[in-house]
Amino acid sequence: MLDYRGYDSAGIAYFDRGIKIHKDVGSVEHLMQSVPETIASNIMIGHTRWATHGAPTKLNTHPHLSFHETICLVHNGVIDNYKELKAKLTEQGYRFYGETDSEVVANLLESFYLEEKDVLLAIQKTKALLHGSYAIAFFVGDAPDFLYVMKKGSPLVVGKGKGFNLVASDASPMIEHTNDFLELEDGEFGFLSQDKVVIYDEKGNEVEKTPIHKDIELISHDLKGYPHYMLKEIEEIPQTISRLINAYFQDGEFRFDKDLLTDLRESDHILFIGCGTSYHAGLVGGRYFEKYKKSASRFIASEWAFHPTYPGKKPFIILISQSGETADLIHCLKIIKEHNLKNLIITNTGGSTLDRNCTYSLLLHSGVEVSVASTKAYVAQTTLLAMLAAALEDDKAVVADLRQAINVVNDIQDHYKPAIQEVAKELAPHKNVFYLGRGYDYFLSLEASLKLKEISYIHSEAVPGGELKHGPIALIEPGLPVIVFITDPETAPSMRSNIEEVKSRGAKVYTISTAELSSPEDAVVVKDYAYYLSSVAISSVAFYLAYYVSLEKGLNVDKPRNLAKSVTVE
Ligand code: M6R
Repeated sequence: MLDYRGYDSAGIAYFDRGIKIHKDVGSVEHLMQSVPETIASNIMIGHTRWATHGAPTKLNTHPHLSFHETICLVHNGVIDNYKELKAKLTEQGYRFYGETDSEVVANLLESFYLEEKDVLLAIQKTKALLHGSYAIAFFVGDAPDFLYVMKKGSPLVVGKGKGFNLVASDASPMIEHTNDFLELEDGEFGFLSQDKVVIYDEKGNEVEKTPIHKDIELISHDLKGYPHYMLKEIEEIPQTISRLINAYFQDGEFRFDKDLLTDLRESDHILFIGCGTSYHAGLVGGRYFEKYKKSASRFIASEWAFHPTYPGKKPFIILISQSGETADLIHCLKIIKEHNLKNLIITNTGGSTLDRNCTYSLLLHSGVEVSVASTKAYVAQTTLLAMLAAALEDDKAVVADLRQAINVVNDIQDHYKPAIQEVAKELAPHKNVFYLGRGYDYFLSLEASLKLKEISYIHSEAVPGGELKHGPIALIEPGLPVIVFITDPETAPSMRSNIEEVKSRGAKVYTISTAELSSPEDAVVVKDYAYYLSSVAISSVAFYLAYYVSLEKGLNVDKPRNLAKSVTVE
């Protein structure tokens, strides 16, 4: 199942002497209470919805049944012109029960199907009118042995089994049943039955597809004794770092693809593109490459996609994505490919859309990350970027620094949780929090602040220490919590001045510092490490803090409201 990605409603449909649909707002477990234990049907479709068009209500939940009840459909993606299509269908007498763009597609398909009496023709006519992205699976009440699929912009993978066939947005939910997959390209469509898969290209010509054999990791729902995935994943950080060292540094040498290193060395500018936490990793990564005299810039994917710039004569693009399925980043890749630019994806998900389609791919080997709040993947991304940048100049000292960082993370796990929990108790009742830092500590502040707002619903802002006086200081008032990172020897004195500035305006300051830069009043003082590795060594302090605040507030730590693990819509 893809429920680990985050959803707010769920539904299934099948054919048993008629189309049967069970759907509701809430969890899959809740849905299953209304589903019969045994179902006699040759086909079944299911969907977990993360609301985009229309609130999370039962009527907006997939599967959607067309007005004349011939077509039952699930859809992932966004139909940009659904309002115009809906207006035209309404003129033809169609009525709609919910507000989704997906219900419009079900009805559009039905209108052509009733006209042509041919499903494949109806698909082609529908495709010609749809603007936007879609991975669609549907069945027709008149032919309940076939499941029809169509794809553009959103991932769709067919799983081939013996005596059965499956389809899903990625291979992971099918891996329990098969290792053989067919990947559909944009514009392709077709149908599956128990023993047959037929796929057509954009023009309607049948295409032969050879199954790809994949051994991907089964998504583990084993919490291994932890109360939440987030806690489990934070505590996996030390092994995540050492696994990466073992994967990319063997027998005393960096082990990266030689062509990748050559392309990176020959490029005159590196662009880092990502979203959310992965963008924050790109901020750090850019600084690592600058350390080795490479010029670098960093972009948020959804911004870059609408104003792509390519600094330098020979740019190289590094895309970063835990899931490898983020729609904003896939949009960027499309533009990058149109310009024939070499690119690399850094991802945790082998077999994902970005893994399959980028020039180079480096896997994070972090194990599946289930909690919506990304933790170990962020550390893995920054660890890998530190090693990749170092490999350009064969700077092996980085590996020793990373090993030292592992000790710091272990030490935080073993000794600092009670102190962090105390800070969390004090933060929990507040509505606003500030994070301050400079340089690497500012990048870490951004990530710490995102994590807190995601799972505690506290408004928080990360501000570079030097920017305070240019505006944000106006918001400092008595009692406001301000969390300060001081781990960089160069910027520590300035940060101490910033602390005085906010304290004199009544803020309650909690400082996280390293031993050599510490002051007696600091809230958390960690062991020293190579300061440029703060995202690797001490991000777990920020992650624990967000985790404990969320716990303190009794919130859903792993599945915070409104968020999805894998953001497959733009
Ligand atoms: O899978 P990706 O790394 O591409 O996801 C990007 C963001 O959606 C993701 O990092 C998001 O910000 C996380 N929920 C952060 O904890």
